[in-house]
Amino acid sequence: MLREQLGVRSAKDGCSPQGQCGCCTVWVDGSPRVACVTPARRVAGRQVTTLEGIDPDLRRRWVDAFVDTGASQCGFCTPGIVMRLAGMERRGGRLGEDEVGRALAAHLCRCTGWRTIYAAAVVAAGAAASPELRCRSGRGRDGDAAARQAALEGGTPQSVGAQVVEGGAGFADDTAPPDALVAVPDGAGGWAVGDSPAAARRAAGRVPGRNSTVSVRYPLEPPDGDFALGLRTTFVEPAYLELDASWCEPGGEPVSPLANGGAFGGKCHSAVTAAARRLADEHGRPVRVLYGREDVVRLGPKRPPIAAGVRADGTGVIRVARTPGSGDLEAWHLAVGDAFPGLAVEEHEVAGPPVSADIRAAGWAEGAVLRAAWEALSSGRTGAGHPVTVASPEGASATVAVDADGAVGVRLSAGAVLDEIVLRSYAVGAVHQALGWVRREGLAVDDEGEVLDLTIRSFGIIPARDMPPVEVVVEDDAGPARRGSDAVFAATAAAAWLAAGLPARWPIERGG
Ligand code: FES
Ligand code: FES
Repeated sequence: MLREQLGVRSAKDGCSPQGQCGCCTVWVDGSPRVACVTPARRVAGRQVTTLEGIDPDLRRRWVDAFVDTGASQCGFCTPGIVMRLAGMERRGGRLGEDEVGRALAAHLCRCTGWRTIYAAAVVAAGAAASPELRCRSGRGRDGDAAARQAALEGGTPQSVGAQVVEGGAGFADDTAPPDALVAVPDGAGGWAVGDSPAAARRAAGRVPGRNSTVSVRYPLEPPDGDFALGLRTTFVEPAYLELDASWCEPGGEPVSPLANGGAFGGKCHSAVTAAARRLADEHGRPVRVLYGREDVVRLGPKRPPIAAGVRADGTGVIRVARTPGSGDLEAWHLAVGDAFPGLAVEEHEVAGPPVSADIRAAGWAEGAVLRAAWEALSSGRTGAGHPVTVASPEGASATVAVDADGAVGVRLSAGAVLDEIVLRSYAVGAVHQALGWVRREGLAVDDEGEVLDLTIRSFGIIPARDMPPVEVVVEDDAGPARRGSDAVFAATAAAAWLAAGLPARWPIERGG
């Protein structure tokens, strides 16, 4: 109702009707509620407040705090999180680490790695406690440089600033004309069309799925041989929060689903743009094309599972899973070769959701992690606390250590620093995603290749409370600015794997 009938754009849909991501959080009589599972009849006679409607001073303070700490990247999750935390402050709640961690349990953010959001809460609360400590968003900061740094890290044009925190980054589903028809996948390879998302979903006639309790499985057998190091992984969901969306006028160009984020490569070949163009031409009207969360899980590409073995001499085999409907994995093969030339790549057909070489650092990160672990094994530097250095093909270098108590230290050199706040934020986000990959993330897939984990909470994204402290030291060197977060991603994964004692299967904390 908020989005479709009242035109509110700050409340986002990242998972409805699952009620699990927090992107749609608003206040009902001053208390945070996820709108997507709150029927309008239940709030009859009560006051519903969205980010647009909160006290301007309160909003400004929180928005500035998020900008000043790099606590928002794509910005899709952010309005809901601001509503949660600003609501806590307004009701006189303490904004300490524990309280903020508990409050954030209702939310998911894929980009920031949470630590910058904790920092934003400290800054916002500090500014509330002493008004002379006003936030100073924008002052002394070059907005264009910040946007260029974000674009470099995110892989698509991006903006940085108050409008992003307020949910105004220009997401495709926020800019569609109100009279557009809506199309959603019909579950049989086509599209169901209606006047609204609800009508289109009714026409599709699909019943929502749920979490599974099935353990993740490892679709590839390990290669035969006498290996010093082995690793098997499973399907991993890119798990970007902004669902695939596009719209198009008849005869026009479809709007990109990558308005303010690269989706970690998961939307590079999204079907929504071509569908929007075709359906708009067919119907002679603007058409919005929307995926729901389950559509993204079923149709969107995953990080391909691997099974690898590395011999003591640094040679070995890495198997990669190829599934029906996947794109060409040639780039994946080449990327492994760049990172660890001693590995022979074998592609194996298995049942499962589509996989892609477009996913964040796919192939290269796997090769870099195996190489770093093999080097550490060869020199006896295994266990927690040993720093791992990884250099990316772009020329960035990251050194990461994961201590026995879980704390993460990062030293990053990525050429000239255009905006340190943005670069740090992406580095922390990469740490979060890498820890998730090693420890918790994976999708349960059955023997026929059907994904069983259909809700966003089942992907294994590390929640705020479980995210360790991350210290980032950024070195400003004289070269051109380069993407640094992929090097951080691979170095963190290797350091976390070493810290855990190099178990042969990821995710370490799930599965068999
Ligand atoms: S869209 Fe409502 S909780 Fe995700
Ligand atoms: S900033 Fe949180 S999901 Fe992108």
